[in-house]
Amino acid sequence: MRTIALYPGSFDPPTNGHYDIIKRSATLFDKLIVAVAENPAKKYFFSVDERTSMLREIVREYDNIEVDHFDGLLVEYADKIGAVTIIRGLRALSDFEYEFELALMNRHLNANVDTIFMMTDEHYSFIRSSLVREVARLGGDISDKVPPVVEKYLKEKLF
Ligand code: COA
Repeated sequence: MRTIALYPGSFDPPTNGHYDIIKRSATLFDKLIVAVAENPAKKYFFSVDERTSMLREIVREYDNIEVDHFDGLLVEYADKIGAVTIIRGLRALSDFEYEFELALMNRHLNANVDTIFMMTDEHYSFIRSSLVREVARLGGDISDKVPPVVEKYLKEKLF
């Protein structure tokens, strides 16, 4: 049986922290689907198409990684694509409570789908998308925090 894992997120924009989780997860499963969330109640900086395109460019050389987007319930999407594992990254203790609730709610909604947590690389423990956007907006250097394609998208959108 081929194991399919799902790595969902807003990826607004994807960072090197996300990329680190993606690369490491892809070695553990036959196939990894990186799924960009489109929540109509949430205001994103980048459109779903832009977030999807950036991720496709980032994972272009990996045969077992696909990028997709979804709306609605994550566990329903997981069922649709045949994934029984959701991957989430944990950066610090502050992530734990939110992730704990998310994982429990998802398991409550669908007991066939389990969440696995991956510790972020220590170099990326302080990175999050909104901080990257702010630093970029104020002209700070983000070249070691995001993949080159994301830096390009940010510069084009901001300046
Ligand atoms: N490295 C760097 N940053 C990371 C990271 C990592 N490894 N992991 C998370 N982050 C950051 C993100 O950059 C983001 O930062 P921001 O708040 O500054 O934008 C933050 O952590 C959270 O981002 P993300 O991992 O994308 O999670 P999210 O909370 O935006 O999205 C979903 C979570 C999409 C998985 C969740 O909302 C979902 O499942 N939605 C679908 C609807 C549903 O099923 N709801 C019920 C769920 S119980």
